[in-house]
Formats: sequence, C-alpha cells, structure tokens
Amino acid sequence: MSEQKGRFITLEGGEGVGKTTNINFITAQLDAAAIPWVKTREPGGTPFAEAVRNLLLASDTDAPSHLTELLLMFAGRADHLDKVIRPALAKGIWVICDRFTDASYAYQGGGRGQSETQLALLEKLVHSDLQPDLTLLLDMPVEAASLRVDNRGQQRDRFEQEQLDFFQRVRDAYLQRAHQHPLRFRLVDASLNLEAVKTQVGEYLKPLIDEALATRSSV
Ligand SMILES: Nc1ncnc2c1ncn2[C@@H]1O[C@H](COP(=O)(O)OP(=O)(O)OP(=O)(O)O)[C@@H](O)[C@H]1O
Ligand SMILES: [Mg+2]
Repeated sequence: MSEQKGRFITLEGGEGVGKTTNINFITAQLDAAAIPWVKTREPGGTPFAEAVRNLLLASDTDAPSHLTELLLMFAGRADHLDKVIRPALAKGIWVICDRFTDASYAYQGGGRGQSETQLALLEKLVHSDLQPDLTLLLDMPVEAASLRVDNRGQQRDRFEQEQLDFFQRVRDAYLQRAHQHPLRFRLVDASLNLEAVKTQVGEYLKPLIDEALATRSSV
C-alpha cells in the first residue's frame, strides 16, 4: 500500500481565542483542495469520550481530583485515537482536532500544577508513536479572550469558570510548549481581527496542502 497518510492538525489555545471558528476556515481550504478531512475535538471525539467530556466539564457536580481529571483526559484520548484519529490518518483522511495533548500540558500541567513528568508518562503511554504534523497555537491576552467567551453568551463550563490567573498559567504553559517544539508549532496572533487571523492560519496551512497536491499530481 503506497497510499499517503493523512495529516494531523491540532488547534490549541485558551478559551474563546477562535479555535472553532478557524477550524471551519481550515476545512473549507481542504475542501477547495479536494483533500478528505474529519473534524473532531478533545476532550471528546467518540461517544465514550464525549461522555467523559460531559463529566469533565460539568460544573454542577463535585469536581474530580486533579489526578483524576488528568487520567480522564488521557482515557478519553486513548479511545479517540483508537477509534477516530489513527484509522482516519491510515486511510489518508486529514484529522483536524480542536485541542489535543498540548491542552493537557497547558490546563492540567500549567493550570492545575500536575507535573510535566506525569504528563510525559501518559503521553508516551497513549501515543508515543504519533504527534500532530502541525499545531496552530492561537495566542492572545487572557482578558480579551474572556470577553469573547462572555460575548458568545453561553453558560460557562467548569474550566471557563476559572479565574484569570488560571488562564494566565494556561497561556504561559502553551507558549512554553510552543518554544519546546518549534518544528510542529506555529504561533497565531489571535488578538487580530478574524480576517488577519485567517490569513496567518492559511499561510501556515499552505505548505501542507501544496505538498499533498504535488504528491497527488506526481502519482
Ligand atoms: N479574530 C477574532 N476577532 C473577534 N472575534 C472573534 C475572532 N475569532 C473568533 N471570534 C469570536 O469569538 C468567540 C469565540 O470564538 P470560538 O468559539 O471560535 O473560540 P474557541 O477558541 O473555539 O472557544 P472555546 O475554547 O470556548 O471553544 C466567537 O463568538 C467568535 O465569533
Ligand atoms: Mg471552541
């Protein structure tokens, strides 16, 4: 089988930075290039992992311990990888994922203070063989992002109810991750207007699309 593997693209960043909005822009670009894709998210992405998501985001029950939260994130992720992400990539379908393991480093690591050693152990256990091909980190000041969440008008989930210092630690941890993995990460200035953000996202996506088109035309 010489079929080309799909590309794995993740979008990361705090609450309200524009991940979901830009995923829709990315899938439109892929459609224009006739590249097959699946859009998915974490926590979640399978019926089982969505049930875990509901447990994790619920704000009306007692909160899990920090270690329980971390383990549940990776438990859902293992299901998601087995049933959705790996099978799609093997079939040549691109996977566009709204948050992945970098979010665990940012939220459970930076936000909750779980150790990097624990995180690295779980990452190795669950997907030692697989990393995203491209991670777009949508970065902006936490106060402005929080206003966007408010303007969206939905009720805040358990994470969205955290205080600004929590989101600042999340932002710092994301930026540290980007610094540690410069080949995979691309930093997007999410504070700009949507057109300018899309332009940046499009520029970072273009090399991958061009490569796929070149491979296709050479077959
Ligand atoms: N560049 C932008 N400028 C202004 N508003 C924006 C921009 N990008 C997105 N928005 C708006 O901000 C709000 C949050 O965007 P979106 O839902 O895409 O963020 P998100 O990162 O997916 O949030 P969450 O983490 O809560 O899922 C939406 O109302 C969206 O229309
Ligand atoms: Mg979203």
